[in-house]
Amino acid sequence: MNAHGDAGPLADFVRGMTALVDHGADEATILRDGRALLASLIAQEDWLPDALMQPDPDGYRIHRLHVDPAGRFSVSAMVWGPGQGTPIHDHTVWGMVGVLKGRERCEEFSPLLEPGGPLVQGHVHELAPGDIDLVSPTIGDIHRVSNALEDGVSVSIHVYGGDIGAIERSRFDDTGRATPFVSPYASCLLPSRAA
Ligand SMILES: [Fe+2]
Repeated sequence: MNAHGDAGPLADFVRGMTALVDHGADEATILRDGRALLASLIAQEDWLPDALMQPDPDGYRIHRLHVDPAGRFSVSAMVWGPGQGTPIHDHTVWGMVGVLKGRERCEEFSPLLEPGGPLVQGHVHELAPGDIDLVSPTIGDIHRVSNALEDGVSVSIHVYGGDIGAIERSRFDDTGRATPFVSPYASCLLPSRAA
């Protein structure tokens, strides 16, 4: 349990997101208003337990922080050790990624001609603490993410329009060939209902 208990920033964030989806907000509204909520959440890092900020030498970790009981969104923390990164992958749902600590590199990709075809690399950028990236199948949801720090740990908070620990999505090789995968949580140390 974090130091703030259910009255902390994570609980506030979950309440705000729950209110958004309860009101039937469309994707654009969720990404606009949810982004503001996420910006508040990542404005400080002391609410995330130290145990969830420790890197795993075998690869990046995803910790479940909250899954909406109706499965409408999830909140997780990703921890990256030096040199660690993802394959090229998609999400299939809307998502918001906010950097809490460190620095992350994001390489965006899109189909060269049509969905399912070869991929072409697009915008490449780095995110510092407080920066937020948005993804969705409508605005682009294929990217490769890595820790931009060669000697430090990076931590980001991820919010997706479903339980990202259970959604089947795709990773891609350099030719654009897709392989289905699910990214299971490394831990579920916090209760699924944070609010
Ligand atoms: Fe991603």
